[in-house]
Amino acid sequence: MSAAEPARGVVRDFVIAIDGPAASGKSSTARRVAERLGIHHADSGVLYRAATLARQRAGGAPPWPEDSVLGATREVTFVLSPGETSWAVRVKGSSVDDELHSPVVSGLVSHVAQMPRVRSWVNEQMRWFAARGPLVVDGRDMGTAVFPDARLKIFLDAHPTVRARRRSLQQLDRLPSVEELAAETERLTRRDEKDATQTRRAPDAIVIDTTHLTQDEQVAQIAALAKGVR
Ligand code: DC
Repeated sequence: MSAAEPARGVVRDFVIAIDGPAASGKSSTARRVAERLGIHHADSGVLYRAATLARQRAGGAPPWPEDSVLGATREVTFVLSPGETSWAVRVKGSSVDDELHSPVVSGLVSHVAQMPRVRSWVNEQMRWFAARGPLVVDGRDMGTAVFPDARLKIFLDAHPTVRARRRSLQQLDRLPSVEELAAETERLTRRDEKDATQTRRAPDAIVIDTTHLTQDEQVAQIAALAKGVR
C-alpha cells in the first residue's frame, strides 16, 4: 500500500448498504445503482463464495475447520478492472466468476459464512473497498454489522415464490415448470433458514418489497433515494 492510500479500516463517508434474503435481487440492483450514480460496488456474498471456492479447491471433505478456510482466503485477491463498476475476486490470480455461483459453492457457502473469523475477513475487506471511494455494498448485514453509519440503508425483500421464479428464470433461461418452481422455492426457504442469523434488517433501513416491482423500478427508486442523501 502506498503512502497516498487510505489506511485499512478507514471508511469514507458515502456508503449505500443494500441487504436482503437470497434472490431478492440485491446484487444486480446494487450493481445498477452504482452504475447510475457513477460509483463503485462490492458484493459481500461474492467474498463468502470466493473463500468457499478457495477452500474447496484445496481438497478435503467439509465440514472444514475455520483455520483452513481462513488460510485459503490468502489465495483470494480483488480487482477493479478498467471500465468496471464492481470489485471482482480472483482465486490464485484467476477469474472465477463462472464458478462462484455453481451448485457446489452455493451448497457449501452457508457453512463458511457461519465462521466468525471468515466474517471478520469479509467485513474488513468491505471496509477497505469503502475507504477507496463512494460505494454501494450488498449482503445480509451491511447496514448493521459492517456499515452501521451508511448514508442510506435499503432492505430488499420479495415473496419467496417470486424470488424463486426470478432465480429459476436466471438459471434456466426460460420459465420454470410448476415442479421446478416448487423445488426452487423449497431450496430458497431452506437457505433463508440457514442464513437467518446473519440476515439482519437495520432499524433505520428503508424496506422495499419488490414482489410487484420490476428491476428497473427498484433501481430507479434506490437511485432517487441515494441522490437525496448525497
Ligand atoms: O447473497 P449470496 O447468495 O451470494 O450469499 C452467499 C452466502 O453468504 C449466503 O450463505 C449468505 C452469506 N452471506 C452472509 O452471511 N453475509 C453477507 N453479508 C453476505 C452473504
